[in-house]
Amino acid sequence: MTPLLSTGGLAEVAAALPRALRAQGHDVRVAMPCYRQITTPHRGEHYCLCEADYGDRVVHGALRLATVPDTDMPLYLVEHEGYFGREAPYGTGAYEYNDNAERFCFFCLALFHAIPQTGWKPDIVHCNDWHTALIPAHLKTRYQGDSYWGDVASIFTIHNLAYQGRYDASSYGCTGLAPEFFHPDALEYEGDLNLMKGALVFADKLNTVSPRYAREIQTIEYGAGLHGILSARHGDLHGILNGVDYDVWNPATDSHIATNYDASDISGKRICKQALQKLFGLPAASVPLFGVVSRLHWQKGMDLLASALDDIMRRDLQLVVLGTGDPGIETQLRAAMARFPDKLGLYLGFDAPRAHTVQAGSDFLLMPSRYEPCGLGQLYAMAYGTVPLVRRTGGLADTVCGYSTLRQNGDEATGLSFVPLTNQALTRCMQDALTLYEKRDLLQQLRMNGMNQRYSWERSSREYETLYALAINRG
Ligand code: GLC
Repeated sequence: MTPLLSTGGLAEVAAALPRALRAQGHDVRVAMPCYRQITTPHRGEHYCLCEADYGDRVVHGALRLATVPDTDMPLYLVEHEGYFGREAPYGTGAYEYNDNAERFCFFCLALFHAIPQTGWKPDIVHCNDWHTALIPAHLKTRYQGDSYWGDVASIFTIHNLAYQGRYDASSYGCTGLAPEFFHPDALEYEGDLNLMKGALVFADKLNTVSPRYAREIQTIEYGAGLHGILSARHGDLHGILNGVDYDVWNPATDSHIATNYDASDISGKRICKQALQKLFGLPAASVPLFGVVSRLHWQKGMDLLASALDDIMRRDLQLVVLGTGDPGIETQLRAAMARFPDKLGLYLGFDAPRAHTVQAGSDFLLMPSRYEPCGLGQLYAMAYGTVPLVRRTGGLADTVCGYSTLRQNGDEATGLSFVPLTNQALTRCMQDALTLYEKRDLLQQLRMNGMNQRYSWERSSREYETLYALAINRG
C-alpha cells in the first residue's frame, strides 16, 4: 500500500479504495504484513500477541495497530520478524522466497486469531491476490460455525491471474486446512497446492479490475489454467475498473512536473517535454516522444518492445523507458541505448517523481501488454494529455478508445491501439502515432478527449459497495 511500500498498481489500489469507501461512511480497516520497509513512524504500536494455528503446530506473532498514512483509518500490521523482516516483500531478483507459502498462510491465519481481539468485527473481508487467498477458504471451512467469523462474508479480487500462489503439495501443511480440501474441487491443482484456486472456489464473490479481463480469464487463452473454475463461477465474477487518485495525478497541481497545465491550456506540456528530454539526456528535438513506465516484464509486452527496437529506432522519434524487471530485457535496452544515445533514454529503476515527469512530458505512452487486468498508466496518461498507445486487451481495451482512420472517430478516440502480438503490429501502430503527430488538430483532439475522461474512485467504490452487499446477503 503506497506510500508504505509498493511493487505495482495494487499498492495504489490498496491506498485509494479504502479511502473512497471510508468517504462513503463505511468503517474500513486495512491489514497487511509488517514488512521491514515500513518505517518506524508508520508502524504504530504493539496491540496484542497472536498466533497462527497450522493444525500440527502453532507459530506466534503480534498485531500492531497503526493508521493508514494521512488518515485516521486503522491499519493492522501482522508482525513476525522472521517472515516479514526481510530485504524485500516477496523475494529478490527473479527469485521469490522459498517459504512464501508459509509466510502468507501465516499472515492469513494470524488475522483469524488477532482481529477478534480488537473487539471489532467486519461484515466482509475484501481479499486481494493470492497472498490473502487462504482467508475465504478458512471462512467456509474451519470457521464456518465459529461464533465470531461464522457469518463474515468474503470477496476476492484478482489483480493478476498469473500469480496464483502455486507450490509443491508438501506446502499444504501450512494452510491449516483439513486434508480433505487438498482436492481438485478445492485447493489442489495438478498435484500442487494452489492458494488462489482456494479463493476462487470459496469466496462469496469474485472480481477483477476490468469487465473485459473478467471475461477474458474465463477462456483458455487468458485463464492461466483456472478458466474452468472461473467460468463455472461466472455469475459471481464481476469486473470493476480501478480509479485514479486525481489528488496525485493531476497536471494542474502536480509538484513533480516542470510546469502545471490543464485542459484549458496545455501549452505547458511543451516545457514538460523539454524537462523530460533533459532528465533522460536526450536532445531537445521536436520529434514525437514515446514514454514507457512499466515493469520490464513479459506480461507488459516489454520483450516485444525490446525486440522491435532496431526497427523503432530507425524512425524519427525519441523513446524514454522507466522501470525495472527482467534482466534480459534490461540488457537489450542498455545495448540499444548505447547504439542510439540521442534517441533512447533509460532509467532502470523506479521513482514516483520520474514517473510523473514521463507522463507529463511524453507525447505517447506505450503499453503493449500481453494481458492487462486494468492498467493504470494509460489512465494517468490520458489525464496528462498524453496519448496512450496500447494493445487492445483487458482494462486497456475497456478504457482506451483507439483512433481508426477508417472510422474517422476523432470525436471519441482517446488513443491508438493494436491487437496482434507481433513486432510488425506494434511498429505499425507507432508509425500511425508518427502520422498523428503531424496532424496537429487531430492530435489535439485526442489529447482533449483523454483529459476529459474521468475514472474516479468514487464511481469504482460504489460498484464495490454493491458487490459487498451481494456477498453479505449471499445474493
Ligand atoms: C496488477 C495488474 C494491473 C492492475 C493492478 C491494480 O498490477 O497487472 O493491470 O492495474 O494490478 O489492480
